[in-house]
Amino acid sequence: MIASHTETFPQGTVAVLTIDNPPVNGIGSGVRMALGKALDEAIENPAISAIVITGAGKFFSCGADIREFNTPMSRQEPSLRAIIEQLEKSPKPVVAAIHGAALGGGLELALGCHHRVAQAKASFGLPEVKLGILPGAGGTQRLPRLIGIKPALDIVAGGDSIDAAKACSLGLVDKVVQSDLVPEACRLALEASVQTDALPRLSRAPISKPVDGEVFDEARKQAARRYRGCVAPLECIACIEKTLTSDLDEGLAFERERFQFLVNGDQSKAQRHIFFAERAALKLPDAKADLITIRKVGVIGAGTMGSGIAMSIANAGIPVVMIERDQAGLDRGWEAINGNYASSMKRGKLSESDMNARLALISRSLDYGALADVDLVVEAAFEDMDVKKEIFSKLDAVCRPDTILASNTSRLDINELAASTSKPSQVIGTHFFSPANVMRLLEVVQGDLTSKEVIATLFAFAKKLGKIPVLVGVCDGFVGNRMVSPYTREGHFLLEEGATPEQVDGALRRFGMAMGPLQMGDMAGLDISWAARKRMAPTRPAHIRYSRVADRICEQGRLGQKTGAGFYRYDAGSRTPIPDPAIDVLIAECAQEAGIERREISEEEIIQRTMYALVNEGARILQEGIAQRASDIDVIYVAGYGFPVFRGGPMFYADTVGLPKVLATIERFHEQHGELWEPAPLLRELAKSGRRFSDL
Ligand code: 3HC
Repeated sequence: MIASHTETFPQGTVAVLTIDNPPVNGIGSGVRMALGKALDEAIENPAISAIVITGAGKFFSCGADIREFNTPMSRQEPSLRAIIEQLEKSPKPVVAAIHGAALGGGLELALGCHHRVAQAKASFGLPEVKLGILPGAGGTQRLPRLIGIKPALDIVAGGDSIDAAKACSLGLVDKVVQSDLVPEACRLALEASVQTDALPRLSRAPISKPVDGEVFDEARKQAARRYRGCVAPLECIACIEKTLTSDLDEGLAFERERFQFLVNGDQSKAQRHIFFAERAALKLPDAKADLITIRKVGVIGAGTMGSGIAMSIANAGIPVVMIERDQAGLDRGWEAINGNYASSMKRGKLSESDMNARLALISRSLDYGALADVDLVVEAAFEDMDVKKEIFSKLDAVCRPDTILASNTSRLDINELAASTSKPSQVIGTHFFSPANVMRLLEVVQGDLTSKEVIATLFAFAKKLGKIPVLVGVCDGFVGNRMVSPYTREGHFLLEEGATPEQVDGALRRFGMAMGPLQMGDMAGLDISWAARKRMAPTRPAHIRYSRVADRICEQGRLGQKTGAGFYRYDAGSRTPIPDPAIDVLIAECAQEAGIERREISEEEIIQRTMYALVNEGARILQEGIAQRASDIDVIYVAGYGFPVFRGGPMFYADTVGLPKVLATIERFHEQHGELWEPAPLLRELAKSGRRFSDL
């Protein structure tokens, strides 16, 4: 776990201690023990003048071993804090030689060293906040002492990494090198060994007070925007604020106490669940498939989805050709793309040269012949089976036999689409989320005949695009949209039973959802689900409850934000929902017509009716094999539907509440509201046997 060797120079001998714990040099109990011992030996050995700590493989170290948290392993001595204290107090200079990344506890280890040398491509960060915790090995106390309060707040409470050049300009590293990292670190260590009484130790460094007294308030405001509902960012900020009034020991004790509070809390358990769930989602049942190289992609349709998809492909440096039926459509898409990039540039998120490079990767054509040389086509045309079938038969004729044909459908049957081509094994669903150049989720829909190579290739492609792919099976709405139906249905029922739109949406926002189901409907456009309901009307069983509220709203021409009104009204050009008394009247009329007596609806009931509708459908989806794992459903909801990461997704949330309790409530709803609430057999099975979704 720690490889130790010496390097001898004319000025002296350096002990080089290499952390070797693949894949990310996580600092678990084994590494801590071995590092503590190796440090002791190097410090005691009179032949050694200085020490360099470095990492084997891709990274310096990416932090504490997260899997050890909440287990006895995390308490095994020595602690990371003790190691850092040991090396900071070392009478011999200790230099960190950093390549790849120094993250979390890895960076905290480097902060305990007297100097830091970095390779030009290295990155630095304290991403603990994204796991619902804070840097618990001195990071919140040493970093502000080294680089100042404001930049430390950005790094600790924001959680994003910075590159070596930025780290150097902030004074986080002493030197950036292109090559010869370890020799350079040895040289610096030997230089420092000449005058060991001047070794820079951050525990002794004074803290410079921020010029702007509002810096903490501003950080709290930013945290509330970026990490709404999360407690960890606020604790990170409190720890940094503590540096103004405490010495290092007091500050470390405070940090330790707040770390323990967070690491034992539900939020951090949920956030760590999502961290591992995202990685588990990448694991395919058939890991051995060969990958098809994607050099060029075609996108059919230059509407909102098509343009967004084309941008996300160009952003990954892959050439893409957009196809439309007419020039006007193509021009509209091209304008939207230009406008989008220009606004990113204005906001300083994209340089002009990068913008031009990305635009240069996107070509346009009205001719399917332009798809003769593409390796993948993503069809993002109108959501209609006949339209899509016609496109796929054209693709069948013009594309190479080995081209992958993907449909960006959000609910249609991939098997039916595949059957309309001569190569169903090459057909797959890719359900992007809007805006496709921003949203990270990608539901990869596996048809019955889709080949394992095509699935594996789509996964690798999605990763290249910076997306989180999740494998799902074919059914109406796949995982995400299929679960949204009962969730929204309950939102509408609750209106009839006595709630107002702002009460339903408000309860769910306070729960942590990015927005409630009614505001979401207004944003997506109410006409899409209206059309689907009209299609299904002839076959809808008459005895099953059906809410007319949404239909009546649409009949008034209120189709959501785009028409300035839906469940709410909107001022021109604004997306802020304004409660509309006309809707309260409409809802009351619908309730009366349906013979429903309106009553007070509690916040608890709103949460249970909507959340447990998600959970019950999720359990069916799991049992049917439409999702591979419960955690995949959680990833889909957190990454694609604004579900609060600090609750870990609907299935993890149900585990947190306790499945027997969830089942008992669903059984009560079943009695009260009828067959739509039939408990899913899997939920019954798990609750009865004392197991959880995460045990599956
Ligand atoms: N602990 C345990 N396992 C970890 C880990 C960690 N800190 N970081 C990564 N892993 C695991 C992953 O789960 C994955 O396991 P798998 O192969 O079984 O799925 C494997 O290492 C490789 O990880 P990735 O697939 O994510 O590899 P990438 O190369 O894509 O990304 C990375 C590498 C950028 C380091 C990314 O893994 C990452 O962001 N890791 C988390 C870093 C982090 O949050 N560090 C802080 C930890 S908490 C801490 O240090 C507390 C301290 O303050 C006391």
